Amino acid sequence: MSEKWAFCVVVCGSGNGTRWVLKRCRLMGSSTRPKPNCLEFCVVWDFTLISKRNVKRDEIEDKVIWITGASRGIGEVLAKQLANLGAKLIISARNEAELERVQKQLTGKHAPHGVKILPLDLTSGEDFLEEAVRKAESFFPDTGVDYMFHNAAFERPKTSALEVSEDGLKATFDVNVFGTISLTRILAPYMLKRGKGHFVVMSSAAGKAPAPGQAMYSASKHALNGYFHTLRSELFQKGIKVTIVCPGPIETSTGSGTSTSENKGVSEKRVSSERCAELTIIAASHGLKEAWISNQPVLAVMYLVQYMPTIGFWLMDKVGGRRVEAAAQKGNTYSIGLLFGKKKSS
Ligand SMILES: NC(=O)c1ccc[n+]([C@@H]2O[C@H](COP(=O)([O-])OP(=O)(O)OC[C@H]3O[C@@H](n4cnc5c(N)ncnc54)[C@H](OP(=O)(O)O)[C@@H]3O)[C@@H](O)[C@H]2O)c1
Repeated sequence: MSEKWAFCVVVCGSGNGTRWVLKRCRLMGSSTRPKPNCLEFCVVWDFTLISKRNVKRDEIEDKVIWITGASRGIGEVLAKQLANLGAKLIISARNEAELERVQKQLTGKHAPHGVKILPLDLTSGEDFLEEAVRKAESFFPDTGVDYMFHNAAFERPKTSALEVSEDGLKATFDVNVFGTISLTRILAPYMLKRGKGHFVVMSSAAGKAPAPGQAMYSASKHALNGYFHTLRSELFQKGIKVTIVCPGPIETSTGSGTSTSENKGVSEKRVSSERCAELTIIAASHGLKEAWISNQPVLAVMYLVQYMPTIGFWLMDKVGGRRVEAAAQKGNTYSIGLLFGKKKSS
């Protein structure tokens, strides 16, 4: 009987993060099903992030970490986890009352006294941002800011690429790109003087692959990826690190306690904001350059677009129109059914 070898690539994404499993199955004859006792081995490619497993605590403890967008969502959870790991924090967003709420909930070696509130509107221009950086640097004058977590972002409006309005485009880019880059340009010289500093940038899967129905958001995250990978290439030898985190759909809660799914009224497979924050901190503490955090099918799409773009872009061209319709109907925009024309709404 002739033997055939087949490779079956199973793409696994779970709350545990990024994982591919390559299963090499021995197939007998014309059967396409592997025999139960066949020689089989699994190679689990724990892509860099998942192989790191735990936070390097000494990279976080006693460090000064400035987080934007800390008034709710992933930023709030990041603040809680970083405080618990013994970091000193500067928390920023526009809503001061929400920042105070978050500050009161923080526990850890330096909380609450080592947690400073710095209200900040990323769209308020360079003079304001210069003042904000001066304040942030003065809170902990012995060390200055060790990490800048760029987490704040403009809301993610769902519109087709042609419906993008100039106002919406400007509002998105003002926060996600111009404000974030300006803050970086102003803070980086302080870090360069000390010969060390680390930018952790909350990008998105939409910054790696097409995101039908979210063209503005996707464009802004692609821009961030381009800027920060370039910044790192220019400044790495001078002690500046950059970690770009690209999450897929994440379950977040607002300050008032409602969750992403509750707000949308549909169930989507989202990674919890706790797991997202945990993996982000693991990636940052190990100095990873880029980390992907997502459930399927978004993770598989990211891999395809990165490593097999012909297939990845073909797939996105197939689902794109349906995803825009699903978004308009407030349906599930991450459903595998979009590929087959089924618009699963829950
Ligand atoms: N949630 C997801 O599914 C998901 C997926 C991929 C990537 N991400 C990324 O992860 C990050 C956090 O997402 P999230 O869902 O937690 O966001 P979110 O709940 O919408 O929170 C956004 C944060 O940004 C702040 N912010 C908004 N405009 C600002 C401005 N002009 N100046 C300063 N701060 C401002 C908000 O606070 P104020 O309103 O008080 O200013 C808030 O704290 C974002 O970068 C997002 O793009 C999220």
